[in-house]
Amino acid sequence: MAFSGAALLAALPLALAQSSSSAAVTPIPSGLPFPDTTYPNATVPYAVAGAQTNQTSPPSYPAPWGEGLGDWADAYQQARAFVSQLTLTEKVNLTTGVGWQGEQCVGNNGAIPRLAFKSMCLQDSPLGVRFGDFATAQPAGVTIAATWDRSLFYLRGLNMGEEHRDKGVDIFLGPVVGPLGRAPAGGRNWEGFSPDPYLSGVAVAETVRGVQDANVIACTKHYILNEQEHFRQGPPPDYLTEALSSNIDDKTMHELYLWPFVDAVRAGTGAMMCSYQQINNSYGCQNSYTMNHLLKNELGFQGFILSDWDAQHSGVASALAGLDQTMPGDESFDSGTAYWGGNLTIAVLNGTIPQWRIDDMAVRIMAAYYYVDRPGHEVDTNFDSWTQDTFGFQHFFASEDYRQVNWHVDVQQNHGQDARNFAAKGTVLLKNTGGLPLTGQEKLTAVFGSDAAENQYGPNGCPDRGCDNGTLAMGWGSGTANFPYLITPLEAIKAEVRSHRGSVESVIDDYAYGQITALSRRVAQPLVGGACIVFANSDAGEGYIVVDYNEGDRNNLTLWHNGDDLINAVAAECNNTIVVMHTVGPVLVNAWYENPNITAIVWAGIPGQESGNAITDILYGKVNPGGKTPFTWGDSRGSYGSDLLYQTNNGVNAPQDNFENGVFIDYRAFDRLGETPVYEFGFGLSYTTFEYSNLQVQSQQAGAYVPTSGQTPPAPTYGSVGDAADFVYPTDFHRVEAYIYPFINSTNLRQSSGDPAYGVNVSYPAGAFDDGAQPYLAAGSNVAPGGNQQLYDLMFTITADVTNTGDVVGDEVPQLYLSLGGPDEPAVVLRGFERLTVQPGETAQFQAQLCRRDLSNWDVVSQNWVITSYPKTIYVGSSSRKLPLQQALDIPAGVAAPAPASSSAAASGSAAVSSSAAASGSAAASSSAAASGSAAASSSAAASSSVAVSGSVAAQSSAGAVTQISDGQIQAPSAAPTTIVTQISDGQIQAAASSSTA
Ligand code: BGC
Ligand code: BGC
Repeated sequence: MAFSGAALLAALPLALAQSSSSAAVTPIPSGLPFPDTTYPNATVPYAVAGAQTNQTSPPSYPAPWGEGLGDWADAYQQARAFVSQLTLTEKVNLTTGVGWQGEQCVGNNGAIPRLAFKSMCLQDSPLGVRFGDFATAQPAGVTIAATWDRSLFYLRGLNMGEEHRDKGVDIFLGPVVGPLGRAPAGGRNWEGFSPDPYLSGVAVAETVRGVQDANVIACTKHYILNEQEHFRQGPPPDYLTEALSSNIDDKTMHELYLWPFVDAVRAGTGAMMCSYQQINNSYGCQNSYTMNHLLKNELGFQGFILSDWDAQHSGVASALAGLDQTMPGDESFDSGTAYWGGNLTIAVLNGTIPQWRIDDMAVRIMAAYYYVDRPGHEVDTNFDSWTQDTFGFQHFFASEDYRQVNWHVDVQQNHGQDARNFAAKGTVLLKNTGGLPLTGQEKLTAVFGSDAAENQYGPNGCPDRGCDNGTLAMGWGSGTANFPYLITPLEAIKAEVRSHRGSVESVIDDYAYGQITALSRRVAQPLVGGACIVFANSDAGEGYIVVDYNEGDRNNLTLWHNGDDLINAVAAECNNTIVVMHTVGPVLVNAWYENPNITAIVWAGIPGQESGNAITDILYGKVNPGGKTPFTWGDSRGSYGSDLLYQTNNGVNAPQDNFENGVFIDYRAFDRLGETPVYEFGFGLSYTTFEYSNLQVQSQQAGAYVPTSGQTPPAPTYGSVGDAADFVYPTDFHRVEAYIYPFINSTNLRQSSGDPAYGVNVSYPAGAFDDGAQPYLAAGSNVAPGGNQQLYDLMFTITADVTNTGDVVGDEVPQLYLSLGGPDEPAVVLRGFERLTVQPGETAQFQAQLCRRDLSNWDVVSQNWVITSYPKTIYVGSSSRKLPLQQALDIPAGVAAPAPASSSAAASGSAAVSSSAAASGSAAASSSAAASGSAAASSSAAASSSVAVSGSVAAQSSAGAVTQISDGQIQAPSAAPTTIVTQISDGQIQAAASSSTA
């Protein structure tokens, strides 16, 4: 296919087209040092350090091509039509970011000016428009989760989608369900919803729908097992060669961590962000098992996978493993080099990446664009991530093209009111012996703690909120937004008290014990009376910022700023002490929660800009608290079972984080370990009381579960690849410094790649180039995204009555739990909830529905979901431990697996998880049981990999001839298994363009 010069120029990123009139021609850089040309981990001897520290991830190829399943059909039709018109470099431009700080958003891909197609703007965060001004700073995920209110999940998503749309964002980098919250100290748990996969699944689905109903693409993240900040990207510490590996078994993957991602896929999330760290020793963005097998094949994900920022570690390998877009596009921030960009062009030209793969990347990206109906809703980006000045550089890193970059568009609408409502509804009343609600008639109201007041640097004074000064309304890191204003608790309480003409004083120095004691004492004096309201917090965030020695992850679970001492100092004097906590997750409250002078305890979560108004609504009874804690509060760190890895444990190699507690996190761990929570998952009080009665279970007709069969169509291609000559940099081309382009340096691809290992002959993963029809997985679907559609067959409708037995209107969240039965299952798992508003004396009906998926376990042998023959019981009540109603479920004949299915699973090797875990279960959670648990996890992973993967790999590994490298992406040549694999022949490494090739 021939290209005219006009077509070539047209393929430049938009930005360049605008600046190409500039006279200066940047010389093509020469002599860049070659980056490491080995595959990640290729030299790491996987056999050495003991089985459990070196789990591998089974290979899965080819990368499934999008088919336009279900409600994606129209979007695919449009995407195919669009992509059919594109040149190779135009397709590459869709897949590759322009480089860090190359344009206005945290990520921008290349434009297609020939078709007037703009660069797409990718922007954080999951709670607002990061770096945006005049936009709403919503409560964080953990607080919206605490509302347990589907309509609020949706509305918050819609609000954020609208604001991103109106700022000119195409792709919203949220919501978060990874981390899920395996360990309570995880730095970014608050960005997500809850360690319970069901609650998180509902929340992510509604958020995705809300965002995408505003015609913005949602990017659910971080896929997957990104459960801690330490070592997520390798160094620090500097000697570390690779990032942490989260090691997991197949059953835990399906039943726990993958669960909410399934809901995001079903809700139609247009994009998915692969994570920094490794999964079973294969990086999240080149792990063919998690991307190709689980996400694109089993779940039938029709959108595209984009990398976390610098989470890409290879060119060809990541492409073959299913990555569709790399962000921010450069190999490392502003390296000027790229795994993709021109190198992707080279790889397609020389056949290392088949045309159908690049076409699939482009189609998936465009399908997401059409799926959310972007056309007609696009807004030119009117804000800038890198400066708040009205004028600045379009290309910030390069300091080029000075122009207007901020229009300061106010996109808030009335979303501040919604934010207040979300925060109030997500506030959880943990204890109340009469302290609340306040009447407003208190003679003296005393407020304590820096957490009640302003940050002395202003609400946005610490970059990316990287400090813990003043009231905590947001954690730190990329999951933040600028506050348009932040109502502090102190100012809102003052306004409230003064509206009743009361007296109010405060001490906001957490350590001014003399003043703290004196003020507390005055409140308690006869003839005075009133309330002491103490504020304290616990913060966390993303690992690139360290706050008070906390490297993203929390170092401990106690309150910051000596909160315990502050609370105790007040409670020692004041017999009406009300504690309010702003925390990113559970904290240890042992030091004071039973003190009778503490008459109420409130968890106000991470509330966003309306913090003070929301807490005042609760404290003064304008909103009756109805939030429920979305995580468990324990009395020690150990009671959570799982914890973070703070120290490297594998020499200079990837730290190995074995998820040896399987599905037993949060309340499931407490139940299993026999730990008594201080406040259990799902718990939360109200100013009224509720009674539960009249549980009814109605069985629905669902047929037998039929494994999906049949084959996909063969891989389609759109247009043709063209000739190398068509894609060489045009003469006199102006290159913006460090900007990533799709062009190549010369028609000599070897020279153009600049890669010394170009052409080295290595084995490619079996099947990676297979463009023929592929079998559908039994658990997958040929109909719609989300896996086998019969998993969503309705099986039971459950109802119960909830009566408001108090005298004020209130909200209650009845919860449905299920015991799946069997020796190694959690005591109960959440499977339904609904937030109801009930008038005093009245009864409302709670309704929940159980579908096949809700009742199933993942069977590692059949690689499918199965309803085991173990007896199953449902429970309904007000928390995970207050379950007054229960009933055994009568599973219709022919629906549950016949008894032998589960026993044969238990007997076979690959069910090592369940069999030996069953053993450890009976060993009553001793530490040796825990140890055997981890061994079980690793052996089952090995076993399940041979189940999951077809013959070739299993055969190879049993023959012992081939060393499995990290992820199955590349196999060491079988003739010489110890040979260091260097490079895949092609331009995986950025063209370090030398002047000789110019
Ligand atoms: C974070 C992502 C974020 C991205 C862009 C990464 O470091 O992990 O959550 O979307 O940066 O800011
Ligand atoms: C950026 C974040 C990003 C992080 C990655 C920071 O400089 O602001 O967006 O998540 O780098 O480490």
